[in-house]
Amino acid sequence: MELSLNNRVALVTGAAQGIGKGIALALAGAGADVVVVDIETDKGQATVDAITALGRKSLFVHADISDPAMVRGMMDKVAAEFSGLDILVNNAAVEYFCSIEDMTIEQWDRTQNVDLKGIFLLIKSALPMLKTSNNAIVVNIASVHATATIPDLAAYAAAKGGIVAMTHSLCQDLGRHGIRAITVSPGFINAGMTKVWLDSQDNRQATLERVNAMHPTGRIGTPEDIGHFITFACTDLGSFINGIEMIIDGGLTTKLHH
Ligand SMILES: NC(=O)c1ccc[n+]([C@@H]2O[C@H](COP(=O)([O-])OP(=O)(O)OC[C@H]3O[C@@H](n4cnc5c(N)ncnc54)[C@H](O)[C@@H]3O)[C@@H](O)[C@H]2O)c1
Repeated sequence: MELSLNNRVALVTGAAQGIGKGIALALAGAGADVVVVDIETDKGQATVDAITALGRKSLFVHADISDPAMVRGMMDKVAAEFSGLDILVNNAAVEYFCSIEDMTIEQWDRTQNVDLKGIFLLIKSALPMLKTSNNAIVVNIASVHATATIPDLAAYAAAKGGIVAMTHSLCQDLGRHGIRAITVSPGFINAGMTKVWLDSQDNRQATLERVNAMHPTGRIGTPEDIGHFITFACTDLGSFINGIEMIIDGGLTTKLHH
């Protein structure tokens, strides 16, 4: 057994940037061919180019994961272009910082439709291909906000908590077909949503230093930190990892205020 994903095909949603891009590159670095799914075409194509530069096959598919017809069309393209599908990483998400008082019904619905229903749609349409793989895994990206959160994130926290609970059932449901299912919950990662928040701060450097100091590791996380664990979990060496919520946060959520 080895730490390799040679001859495996992976699909990563939201891989145009941020954590999803880090996951896609880590999987490709271990030998997987990778399908990049996003609504950002230019950035998605740049991820494909980076994967191709690693010597792996890659394809960008534009699809809104909350749209059942687009998801079906996307999976048809994957079936036509690749030998099958072994690894599905449900990473794409949206978040709105908004109090319940100000949140619109559209914002609530969009959050649940992308962050939660999108995962259901992806798994459902990928299932025929995953079932024919002899080492299939579904990786759902949640967040530490599933467990401990802040004001103005109720819709996002609800969706992320839903992912953790959904995966408990999924690993048993998909287990009937020999497919594993896990949740990965990142903490502060210096990319994507957290980078947008850092960039909005008056004194970005001071905020970054404060965030770094909150961590027992003394630093914020990187997309590679998430990609490396997922890569290991997908290999034969990780084949007994199932149903878990893996919190990757540098120890942040172990702390009590004192
Ligand atoms: N950045 C962090 O600190 C952090 C922490 C915890 C969890 N997460 C989770 O990690 C994942 C990635 O977050 P990120 O910070 O890299 O965010 P990001 O906004 O940089 O990336 C999300 C990607 O998803 C795509 N996307 C959004 N809606 C889509 C849709 N309907 N269909 C297809 N693609 C869509 C976006 O275009 C974007 O490329 C998310 O699930 C997020 O909740 C991030």
